[in-house]
Amino acid sequence: MGSEVIVMHSNSGATVSVVGGGVIGLACAWRAAQAGWHVTLHDPAVGSGASHVAGGMLAPLSEGWPGEEAALAVGAASLDRWPGFGGELERASGLSLFTTTDSLTVALDAADAEDLHTIAEFLGRAGRTARVLTRREVREHEPMLARGIRLGLLTDGESAVDNRALLTALRGAAADAGVEIRGEQVADLDALESDRVVLAAGHASARLWPGLQVRPVKGEILRLRARPGVTPAPTRTVRGVVHGRPAYLVPRADGIVVGATQLEAGEDTQVTVAGVRDLVADAEALMPAIGEYEFHEAAAGLRPCSPDNIPIVGAVSDRVVVATGHGRNGILMTPVTADAVVAALAGDELPEMAPASPTRFAVPAR
Ligand code: GLY
Repeated sequence: MGSEVIVMHSNSGATVSVVGGGVIGLACAWRAAQAGWHVTLHDPAVGSGASHVAGGMLAPLSEGWPGEEAALAVGAASLDRWPGFGGELERASGLSLFTTTDSLTVALDAADAEDLHTIAEFLGRAGRTARVLTRREVREHEPMLARGIRLGLLTDGESAVDNRALLTALRGAAADAGVEIRGEQVADLDALESDRVVLAAGHASARLWPGLQVRPVKGEILRLRARPGVTPAPTRTVRGVVHGRPAYLVPRADGIVVGATQLEAGEDTQVTVAGVRDLVADAEALMPAIGEYEFHEAAAGLRPCSPDNIPIVGAVSDRVVVATGHGRNGILMTPVTADAVVAALAGDELPEMAPASPTRFAVPAR
């Protein structure tokens, strides 16, 4: 007679509250539930913050720069997880998440062209490949781009995802895994009855854990829709520096997302005329036919930025794990952050996320 096998997960019965329902909170809740935790997610407006506004490009390679090895390492660790993470969500949700597979960074002047060579060499030393394209090759890859572009840097595998489809997929996956979503605002972590807490409330995390070094950085972004007969959108994420401002075009199934301004403006989320003017001008400098598109939406969000532009992920007490500080890279950093948080809940550390440890700052314990 065979003996009955009862599989007990090590987290059986333990409860965790996830505070914050952006992509980071939802992914942590989903993965924690899969790991056996009883998870409740608290947010009065799930999926309405920076995750909803985002462009969705996954670009740690083309943002690489000598001296920023740690940022490249954590970003690349997450990029490498995206095919598996996104594929699992696509199968579970039936939604298509990926909108492109590569990025093309372009140089509009000689200084930018020098920078592209610097990035290519930096990536080569880090064991990542990036290919410098001539002016002619840039236009062969993306014929709609401006003729004045001097050089390009093609980074294979730097995909982009539809952030809003991602939110829908994560919410569904979390619910299917047993996560209970409560539409309530948490004002005090001590008032939560759970055994453990994951604080993933973006820039607002500092209100709940005073001293956490995260601040809001406003970003305005445009959503343009293709109209019949318009010049086709780029097939890759296109990035460049225009008038000293970083600009990007991220393809979507129905058009293009244009981003993004960067302003230290407290918690202001109003879209300004100047922001829209600059984004339209910069997009037009990259792709002259952009004016043919329908102006569909302008929105602003608050990126949760850390002092060194590396996320803040890990335990800050025996009970609380934080997952914030993702700055411009929240969508990119979602898979590795969820893995790091599940490891932290189990008392472990994910080696790839060592640079993101909260202990690198003086985070007051409570
Ligand atoms: N994800 C790019 C930005 O925040 O502008």
